[in-house]
Amino acid sequence: MNRRDLIRALAALGAGSALPAFALDAAPAGSGAAAAAFDRAVAEMRWLGALKGVSAGTDTLRCDRLAVSGRWPAGLRGRFYRNGPALFERGGQRYRHWFDGDGMVQRFEFGPNGVSHLGRMVRTPKLANEREAGRFLVNALGTRIDDEAPVQGPDSFNTANTNAIEHAGRVLAMWEGGSAFALDPADLSTRGAVTWQPGLEQAPFSAHPKLDPQGNLWNIGTTQDKVVVWHVDPAGKLARVQIGESPYPGGMAHDVAITERYIVLPLPPVRLNFGRAGRGREPEQAMDFAPDQPLRILVMRKDDVAERRVFELPAQFVFHVGNAHERSDGTIVLSFVGAPDATFLTRDAIALMRGEGGMSTHTRTQVATLDMASGRARVDALAGAVEFPRIDPRRIGLPARHLVTAVNWKSFPGRGRTLFHGIQVQDLASGRVDRFDYGADAVVEEHIVVPKPGSTRELDAWLVGTTFDARRQATQVNVLDARRVADGPIAQATLPYALPLGFHGNFSAA
Ligand SMILES: [Fe+2]
Repeated sequence: MNRRDLIRALAALGAGSALPAFALDAAPAGSGAAAAAFDRAVAEMRWLGALKGVSAGTDTLRCDRLAVSGRWPAGLRGRFYRNGPALFERGGQRYRHWFDGDGMVQRFEFGPNGVSHLGRMVRTPKLANEREAGRFLVNALGTRIDDEAPVQGPDSFNTANTNAIEHAGRVLAMWEGGSAFALDPADLSTRGAVTWQPGLEQAPFSAHPKLDPQGNLWNIGTTQDKVVVWHVDPAGKLARVQIGESPYPGGMAHDVAITERYIVLPLPPVRLNFGRAGRGREPEQAMDFAPDQPLRILVMRKDDVAERRVFELPAQFVFHVGNAHERSDGTIVLSFVGAPDATFLTRDAIALMRGEGGMSTHTRTQVATLDMASGRARVDALAGAVEFPRIDPRRIGLPARHLVTAVNWKSFPGRGRTLFHGIQVQDLASGRVDRFDYGADAVVEEHIVVPKPGSTRELDAWLVGTTFDARRQATQVNVLDARRVADGPIAQATLPYALPLGFHGNFSAA
């Protein structure tokens, strides 16, 4: 594809089309009664407090000094960013799906004088317009809005609510179907949507970019039938953008792995049914899981995405990868978390917003071996109900032995089938698990791996992650030694308020 064709193709993905990237079904947003019913549910199941969200008038949350217990490691200095849906209720309406909320980026700063917090709403065009109107104006993933305002491309409904990473002097707040938004690291004010190259306005830049050991950011974006592959250099400039054909048009792709030479992209058999649903205007489910279809793994060469292989694994739903690497025998090993179907997306994440919280499916870590020569693939599932896989960032694209995940292995009376209560490091070679139970009052969020300064060995690191304490209705930042997880946090910093449950984050060392 020559440059002009590429620009034309990308323009068609972005500003030129009101692409319904993530339309789900649906019934209209709840009335004020939905918000009141949710408040009653929180009184019954206190952990649901983390899904109430911030008030429509909130722009900033700030605490200059968190209460710290334990011994904060002297070498742990820097900025821990997280992102997630935060605003669920406006003008008497409550969103129906967890993923619908407008994004708020959280920054915990670990400095010489302690831990501070700043949270700030990402000022997307959607947020700005809806603040002015005093109501939701555009359809979301799982919520239909009556009298929807006209949309001019995916950024009209971009909530920038999925992940945040500091790269080349700015913080990128990312969603899945449209632009990343650039924030000022100093105060998290929104600079605006990132256009990597003129002509590529609103082209999809997904929420799980991977940073290679040289500081390059690799990412994908998917549309109806294309896969965009982004390569951003360490200075934050676009090095190259390529576009390939999707082997499963209409499917969704959420996360991506890289190896030294390849992009490895799981494409679960989940399809958006545009013909039936448009942007959620029909009451039927617009996101269908096809159990008779395989989980496809699209492997593309970084230097030429047209050179590729598509592997087929048994049907399952995938949000997240752990890692991928190449072996000397020509195979690629990919770790990921898979679920038997997409009910978390299509049902559980809606029940959560109604205060009926719980997960009905069990996700498992899987390790796939992909033979580039023969095209054959096999996959092995490991024990444990897990999500939010992370590895030591120094091993991205290289062999990594240890996988960090949030995990569930107990049920607690009165808590329902909620999100996660534990964190674990699993040794993928031996299967051995080192895990810690935060207990019945905690909802455990993603924990990331932060290397100890001066170290080089995998897992010479801390785990850093947040938990929501249902008893205190407050969010905590936990620090664990990655090699002694069962000992529990060596330090905790506690906010005087609750943050809405988030999705993903990253750390930048001071
Ligand atoms: Fe994700």
